[in-house]
Amino acid sequence: MLGQDSIQDFTQGLSQEHMLVLEELDMLERALKAKDLPRIAGTLRFFDEKVALHRRKEEEILFPALAKFPPIAHGPIACMLEEHREEKRLLEEIRHSLDAIEKGGDAWARLRASVAGVLSLLRAHIMKEDKVLFPLAERTLVEEDAAKVRRRMEEVGYFFGPSAQPRLQG
Ligand SMILES: [Fe+2]
Repeated sequence: MLGQDSIQDFTQGLSQEHMLVLEELDMLERALKAKDLPRIAGTLRFFDEKVALHRRKEEEILFPALAKFPPIAHGPIACMLEEHREEKRLLEEIRHSLDAIEKGGDAWARLRASVAGVLSLLRAHIMKEDKVLFPLAERTLVEEDAAKVRRRMEEVGYFFGPSAQPRLQG
């Protein structure tokens, strides 16, 4: 028996990544107020390099494992996937506005609107995953599926380290 630990390993790993995403969003909010374009570009890089891996762990590993259960597939997972699409759309808008501003155009209003959109979308989205989806996964996945999910997530890796393990001690 693997027990509950193996499920919490990966849900806690994903939640730890969420905390870093929330910190990055706070930084993005400050950077926008300060009109710090290089820092805003830094947030886009953070999403390209790190959050893309986080989304992969959710979309390619966790969600398909949960999608075996039709009420979860049609409810929470459909909603999370739609929010991931909206997240990517808003990030593209931010990228376009940054490009336009760097080329001398006035895209500040558009940039402010897209940043406000991504901040509110992701803060709410992360709360839903942490408070609804992950507890649901902990209650629903059988040990064998949970162990598979955990193994595959560790292959992809977590962006605060090679494994969530050290964070779980104590
Ligand atoms: Fe997430």
